[in-house]
Amino acid sequence: MTHRVEHLAEGVTLHLGDCREILPTIGKVDAVVTDPPYGIGKDGQAKSSGKHGGRKAYDFIGWDGVRPAEKIFQQILGVSDRQCIWGGNYFADFLPPSMRWLVWDKGQRINQSDGELAWTSEQAALRIFTLNRVALLMEGAQHPTQKPVEVMKWSIQQIGCPRIICDPFMGSGTTGVAAAKMGLGFIGIELHEPYFDIACRRIADALSRPDLFVERPSAPVQEALAI
Ligand SMILES: C[S@@+](CC[C@H](N)C(=O)[O-])C[C@H]1O[C@@H](n2cnc3c(N)ncnc32)[C@H](O)[C@@H]1O
Repeated sequence: MTHRVEHLAEGVTLHLGDCREILPTIGKVDAVVTDPPYGIGKDGQAKSSGKHGGRKAYDFIGWDGVRPAEKIFQQILGVSDRQCIWGGNYFADFLPPSMRWLVWDKGQRINQSDGELAWTSEQAALRIFTLNRVALLMEGAQHPTQKPVEVMKWSIQQIGCPRIICDPFMGSGTTGVAAAKMGLGFIGIELHEPYFDIACRRIADALSRPDLFVERPSAPVQEALAI
C-alpha cells in the first residue's frame, strides 16, 4: 500500500500506512500515546439526533472488527519509554500490570458507557478526569471514535509530558493536536487516507494555534534505533 509522509513542522511527522510496518522504522520515541481499535465494531455507526446536531453517520470500513494482535503491543513497548494506551481494558492480557490506569468519566449516566479506561506504564496513583461527552460534539467530531483534545492533553500530562510522542493508530489525529498545542514533538501513523488527511489538517491548524502560557521544551531530539 501507499506510504505517504508529511512533515508538518520540525519534530512533527505523519505517516500514511500500516503501523506494523512503519513503527519498527521510526526510531526510539519518548512515549506512545494511542487509542487502538478495540475490536468492537465501532467504525461505522448510525446518525443520532441531539442538541448539538447529534452524532454523525460514518461508513463502515472494517478496521474495528478485531483488536490488534499482541505483537503490536510488544512493538509499542519496545520503541518507547512510556506508554498510555486507551481501551486498555480490551488489551489487559497483552500488557504488564499497572498502577496508573486513567479513567475518562464521560460525565453522564445514560445508556452508553459511563467512561473509558487507559492503561499506562506509570507506577503512580490511578487518576480520573471528568469531561462531558458533549465536549466532542462541540469540537466537531470527524472520526467515529474521536477522543476530545482535552482528554489527550490530560493523558500526556499523566505520563510526564514526554518530548516526543508517537500515536501509531492516529485516526483523526487528536493525540497530535494535543501534542502540537503543548509544544511537543509528534509522529503519527494512520492506515486510512481519509482519516490521515483529516489528521494532517487538524494538526497543521493546532501548530498554528498552540496553547498560550505553556512552557515549551527545547527542540525535540530523536535517537535512532538500530534496525
Ligand atoms: C480508535 S481509532 C483512533 C481514533 C483517534 N483517537 C481519534 O481521536 O481520531 C483507531 C485508528 O487506527 C487505524 N488503524 C487500524 N489499524 C491500523 C494499522 N495497522 N496501522 C495504522 N492505523 C491503523 C484506524 O483506521 C483508526 O482510524
